Amino acid sequence: MQPELVIRETTQDDFCRVLHFIELVDGDFYPPLSQRGDGGIYERVRTSLATSNANYVVAEMTEPEPSDGLQGLVAMAGCTFKWQQEDDAYINFLATHPSYRKYGIAELLYRQLEEMLAEKGVNRVYLCTWSGNRAAMRFYEKLGFIVYSIVLNDRGNGINTLNYRKRLIAKQ
Ligand SMILES: CC(C)(COP(=O)(O)OP(=O)(O)OC[C@H]1O[C@@H](n2cnc3c(N)ncnc32)[C@H](O)[C@@H]1OP(=O)(O)O)[C@@H](O)C(=O)NCCC(=O)NCCS
Repeated sequence: MQPELVIRETTQDDFCRVLHFIELVDGDFYPPLSQRGDGGIYERVRTSLATSNANYVVAEMTEPEPSDGLQGLVAMAGCTFKWQQEDDAYINFLATHPSYRKYGIAELLYRQLEEMLAEKGVNRVYLCTWSGNRAAMRFYEKLGFIVYSIVLNDRGNGINTLNYRKRLIAKQ
C-alpha cells in the first residue's frame, strides 16, 4: 500500500537528504552516477541546488519513522528546465527508494512533476535510460514517452543509451 505522501520541490536546506538519497540508489544506475565524469554526486547536487533552472522534486512521507535518516524521502526526480530550448526540460535523475518500489510512487511523482512543467510552459520533456533497464523502459513508455534515438554501445559492454521524449500541452 502506498504511504501518505507529499510532493514538493527541494531547497538548499535539503542538500544532505538529496545527497544521501542519490548515494543510496547510486548502484542502480549504469554506470553509477558517482563514476560519471561530472564531478561526482556531491558536485551534481551542489550544482543543481545552486542553479535556478535545475531542481529536484521529492515524494516524502507525511509521517516518517523517527529513525529514518532520509526523513521519509521515498522518491526523487531531478529536472533541468530550459534544457536545449526555452520551452523544454530534461529529467536528469529519477529513482524510488529500493524499499518502496512498485507501489506507484514514481508514477505519482512524475505525474505531479509533469503538471508543474506544463504550468511553467514546458512543451517537451526529454530523458534517457539504458538498454536492460526494463523497469525504467516500461515506466517511461507507460507514461507516454517515445524513443527518438538510440546510441549504440554508448555505455560500453553492449549497453545502449535510449533517448526518450514526450510532448506536453503547456498551460501558459
Ligand atoms: C524505475 C523506477 C523509478 C520505478 O519506480 P517505482 O516507484 O517502482 O514505479 P511505479 O511503482 O510507479 O511503477 C509505474 C509503472 O512502471 C513500470 N514498472 C515499474 N517497476 C517495474 C519493474 N520492476 N518491471 C517492469 N515494469 C516496472 C510499470 O509499468 C508500472 O506500472 P504498473 O504497475 O501499472 O504495471 C524504479 O524502479 C527505480 O528507482 N529504479 C532504479 C533507478 C532507475 O533505474 N532510474 C531510472 C534511470 S533512467
